[in-house]
Amino acid sequence: MKWHQPTSADQQAYPPRQIFKAGLRHHHLANTAYPINHNWTMKDYRVSRADYKTVTARAWQDIAEMGLYVHIPFCQARCNFCEYTVIDPAENERWEDIYFDLLLQEFEQYSQSLTIRKKTLIGFDIGGGTPALAKVENIARVVEAARTYFQWQPGMEISLETTPLIAIRQPEKIAALYRLGIERISMGVQITQLSLAQRLGRQYKGFDSLLEAVRNIRAAGFKKFNIDLMYGFAGQSVADWRDSLAKSLELEPDYITLYQMRYKGTRLQSQAAQVSKETIATMYHAAWKLLNQAGYQAPPGKNTFSRLPGDVGTSNYLTNRVIKGTPYLGLGLGAQSYSHQTLAYNQGAAAKQIAPYQKALAAGQLPLQDLYHLPRVVSMAKMIAVSFYFGEINRTYFEQKFGVTLEAQYPVAIDFVLSEGLMEYRGDCLSLTPQGVSYYNGVIALFYAPAVQQHLLERPVGFGKWKPAQTQQAQPRDVGPGLKIAA
Ligand SMILES: C[S@@+](CC[C@H](N)C(=O)[O-])C[C@H]1O[C@@H](n2cnc3c(N)ncnc32)[C@H](O)[C@@H]1O
Ligand code: SF4
Repeated sequence: MKWHQPTSADQQAYPPRQIFKAGLRHHHLANTAYPINHNWTMKDYRVSRADYKTVTARAWQDIAEMGLYVHIPFCQARCNFCEYTVIDPAENERWEDIYFDLLLQEFEQYSQSLTIRKKTLIGFDIGGGTPALAKVENIARVVEAARTYFQWQPGMEISLETTPLIAIRQPEKIAALYRLGIERISMGVQITQLSLAQRLGRQYKGFDSLLEAVRNIRAAGFKKFNIDLMYGFAGQSVADWRDSLAKSLELEPDYITLYQMRYKGTRLQSQAAQVSKETIATMYHAAWKLLNQAGYQAPPGKNTFSRLPGDVGTSNYLTNRVIKGTPYLGLGLGAQSYSHQTLAYNQGAAAKQIAPYQKALAAGQLPLQDLYHLPRVVSMAKMIAVSFYFGEINRTYFEQKFGVTLEAQYPVAIDFVLSEGLMEYRGDCLSLTPQGVSYYNGVIALFYAPAVQQHLLERPVGFGKWKPAQTQQAQPRDVGPGLKIAA
């Protein structure tokens, strides 16, 4: 399939310093969750509903290796900070079995239109939400379907998410999940302060309960155990954060993943302005130092730290996405899919309701809310934005995927990041320096597609609805003194 022609908005070139500053100004938006405001920045690439099946089939026909993500939108309670697609917990019981039936229908839909049986899975994540909340029989149905519909790369691991509460209360379920062949498990710890956890609406029973959850996970047999920690909350001090990190080390996980709080679209959105990028940088650097000293390794800017030699710590699904830009199919409510040339969002991301997703499948359609046919420059930006999960861009895989070197594609941006000491060459990668980590939101914006850069240049700070004054010609403006980086 050919690339879409880029619009004139995606053929502009803006001065790197202005984009860099715009990324910093919008540091709560300029991150790995790409693209930004796709309703506007990508509207000219939208595929019409009648063409969803044919365009999807064409986009996937030559893809041999891919990742699979299955989304489970159920949680016991909704945390105030959560950005994910989760339905009202009061509806869980009513929907659970129906939802798993729908997932199987979605597998079947793709099997008909994509010949997925010939494709090899290189990674499989069952995420959410809280997939461990679902019945084991239902998770087993999904694992079975993945086996039936795809070839599996030998040694490929499945990864699944749980909360501490489920690991504490249902040890037999955790053991049954392991027996299903799920080898990696990830548990959200987030923070260890009881009062802050309560303010965040998190079901947390204190540190001893975490120890119990870990005992159950280890007793079940898991040898690849990750915990998630979050920073950048309003009201969370650097001392709180250090304390959460130190306590978490007592849990002795194999991996620790740090999530910077993303405010957009959450119940805490209005608190974003209380958290500065300087505080966030201080928190990341403190964590990096502490974790490395404790034997958890990661290059600067990477979010997942691993204590297992030769193991990067992320699931096979995510590792391939980050390093190679491997295409992935996302099934379930609000899930995202990416082939080289298309990006799709399933029904339900915004409304968090299963009914429209159900309706599309009942009508024999792919349950897509939006499908975009991408130009090469947007697909590149997507791959690079995701690369920043590891704080670096793999130059070999970029060139393999797009047939052009990173340097030939981004000469101005690369000159800027090298001369400002924000990135450096390390092995096969262009990697963030420790200084670059502090300015990561500015750096990542340099690799965004021009239409998204225009959006950052023009939009006011905050998360309000935004419409471009003009879509063709951007008006870059210089803003805000106070950058520490020399001109
Ligand atoms: C889909 S959740 C699954 C984990 C499980 N449901 C739990 O909460 O324990 C994956 C992780 O995303 C992170 N997360 C949730 N909301 C976030 C947000 N608004 N910004 C950044 N990370 C977030 C949390 O660290 C969470 O553990
Ligand atoms: S953070 Fe985890 S438990 Fe909380 S609402 Fe989000 S997915 Fe559910």
